[in-house]
Amino acid sequence: MTSRFFQPRRLAHANVFVSDYKRASDYYRDVFGFEEVYNQPDNKASFISNGNTYHDFALVDINSRYAKPGQRPGLNHIAFEVESEAALVDGYRAAVAAGVVYRSTEDHDVAHSLYQKDPDGNEVEIYADVVHDWRSARHGSFSKKKPKWVPGETNEPLTEPLHPVNPEIRVIEPSLVHGRRVAHVAMVAQDYEAMFDFYTNVVGLNAIVGGRDQAFALLAGTHSMGDFVLYRNDVETHMPMHHIGVEVGSEADLDAALEGIERSGGKLIAAHDHAARRVVFVHDPDGLPIQLFVNREWTLENIRSIDAKLAPYLI
Ligand SMILES: [Fe+2]
Repeated sequence: MTSRFFQPRRLAHANVFVSDYKRASDYYRDVFGFEEVYNQPDNKASFISNGNTYHDFALVDINSRYAKPGQRPGLNHIAFEVESEAALVDGYRAAVAAGVVYRSTEDHDVAHSLYQKDPDGNEVEIYADVVHDWRSARHGSFSKKKPKWVPGETNEPLTEPLHPVNPEIRVIEPSLVHGRRVAHVAMVAQDYEAMFDFYTNVVGLNAIVGGRDQAFALLAGTHSMGDFVLYRNDVETHMPMHHIGVEVGSEADLDAALEGIERSGGKLIAAHDHAARRVVFVHDPDGLPIQLFVNREWTLENIRSIDAKLAPYLI
């Protein structure tokens, strides 16, 4: 399959399973500095963001109806944002005509979404925003039956780009670290080549460093310098997801994480300093791997100069 069906702008959110969604929401506010935008008590989920998207993280309880029996904390799905609903529907039609299977198509009021599995079995969402002012549509406790959405049939696809453009990023005080946004997700692939082909052809990301015949690949949408990283399965990890990359406000936040993460109930895993990026790599209390980072000179040249052993921690 060589067609590119979509041109995603960027990774928009990470949806993760946590052991207790209320406790996790408090932790992500008090420690990482992300504000709850809305919650869904019927789904046992909290949606948090400082304005980068309508949610940067979804924190879904392992006892939610979305969880499988015996569900453990870890990645539920990742989501990529496309330019407009019309682009989403065009891509969907071309993909379906080429034999791509989607698990579901959903109407989230503020966004319309497609869901499918990648070759390793991870769930992937591709979506378009369909309202500009998501804050008035989504706040507080929210529960509503989702209307049916058939791409291109339920409604005339909106051609207007409604994704956030240079959104104001709120700073939530007082938190240990001031998270700005979820910037990327890194995965350790079971079938590296199949995963590379899927994320470049079916999802439509571009390899900007590394590649199909390399140790890793840094993939990017049209509005980013890295949204998704694939590592081969010789990279050590305790879950298929190697980490979620969270951009923080300043290096003072990284110092605060170094000093305070263990006291908060999290775990300090590693800290690295490079011309491209400075990183403090932590686990949240559920063991979810979070790469807190501040970019220095995040250029292709500097990224390529990162030592192969350190790459999974820095990229
Ligand atoms: Fe999602």
